[in-house]
Amino acid sequence: MGSTTLTMFNVSLETLQTVADNFHTALMAGLCKEGQMIRALPSFVCELPSGREEGDFLVVDLGGTNLRVGCAQLKGNGQFGLDMKRWALVDEMKNKAGCELFDLIADCVKSYLKDSPHQTMGEALKGRPISLGFTFSYPVKQDDIDHGILIQWNKALVCNDVIGLDVVALLQDALNKTDLANVKVSALLNDTVGTLAAHAYVDVDTKISVLLGTGTNAAFIAPLSLVKKLAAHPTIQSHKEMIINTEWGAFGDGNGDLLPLLPLDKKIDSETVNPGAQILEKLLGGMYLGEIARLALELQFGDGQMLGKPFDLETADLSKIEIDDGHGGVALKEKLGWRDFDDTALQQAKDICRSVVKRSAQLCAAMLVGIYRLLGKPRTRTVVAFDGSLYEKYPRYSEYLEETIAALEPGHTMEFQLRKDGSIIGAAVIVAARKS
Ligand code: BGC
Repeated sequence: MGSTTLTMFNVSLETLQTVADNFHTALMAGLCKEGQMIRALPSFVCELPSGREEGDFLVVDLGGTNLRVGCAQLKGNGQFGLDMKRWALVDEMKNKAGCELFDLIADCVKSYLKDSPHQTMGEALKGRPISLGFTFSYPVKQDDIDHGILIQWNKALVCNDVIGLDVVALLQDALNKTDLANVKVSALLNDTVGTLAAHAYVDVDTKISVLLGTGTNAAFIAPLSLVKKLAAHPTIQSHKEMIINTEWGAFGDGNGDLLPLLPLDKKIDSETVNPGAQILEKLLGGMYLGEIARLALELQFGDGQMLGKPFDLETADLSKIEIDDGHGGVALKEKLGWRDFDDTALQQAKDICRSVVKRSAQLCAAMLVGIYRLLGKPRTRTVVAFDGSLYEKYPRYSEYLEETIAALEPGHTMEFQLRKDGSIIGAAVIVAARKS
């Protein structure tokens, strides 16, 4: 059992190639037809920013862990500033009835406007018309930029009465009730779409974006000739391309054989609020890595007993254990109640944490290669923008990812860059590009 626990997260290059190829095929299917495992959702963002857009924009970002409201100041020349307030999504909010959740968001918008140092925001509070960009990190079916029907909640949100409803209308109604009818929700976008647009604002070669935070997902700019399911759509005929939100977290849903799933992955899936859904996300996303490692540590050291409680160990703890600047052992003691480890056990615990995170990076690399292949392996510079704390903060995550991509697709032209706060800046960029 011991050495198996240490090696069970290893994934061969051959398996990763198969993941890349199968994802490529699944993505193609999603672009051609509705109702596929990979939804490949059209964003109706057909034009990328020029980098010259300017102005102050009000933005709301509903993620998996936080709600953020802010003012993004686009200064032209690819320059911007950001000022925002953040509210942690505590469990009580995650289970709210739909309209209560949106009422709460509207209250947060009001609270932000009251405290904002920006003149434009102060004027909005007094009734001056203003557009709002709404970043919403869940799958929605859009038929235009300012309209989107929620398909399902992921991560930990379970406000089920919102599924099937237009989240723009819900937020607009809530704003109207809060005396903010002058605030008009004028663009709805996924966080991946925002990250792509935000990075394109600073680097025109940006073609792909990846989110690696609580959950995971990617978007890319697709030639409309590939998006066959939109062939008859009336409003986009004059455009050549569109940002597509892949919703790659759903890879493996209904067909777990597409991924190298371990028994502990299946156990975690069965205990989540969305069993059977977001199978890839549950191998990659920051919300799950701590629990995967906890179960592996339990297998290795638990002697048939539980080590800690489900989801007690967080991804941030894994990096503490791995870096072990004295805090690694503390995380094991405090989070898992594991007191009697020696140096050898601590070293093995570090190896387990590293291999859980490395598997996440390697699978992410394979998925990215799937998109690159779908785009016809471009020979020109292809910038991939990343947002999310797993990519930004986890030691060596980007290194594992890049070395795997190089092994899977030697000679590729992708360049990997961090776009911090991309999801929220992107909302401003998209609203600005609509106005100009
Ligand atoms: C959602 C995506 C989102 C991703 C990253 C997933 O759970 O389905 O829409 O982009 O998380 O936030």
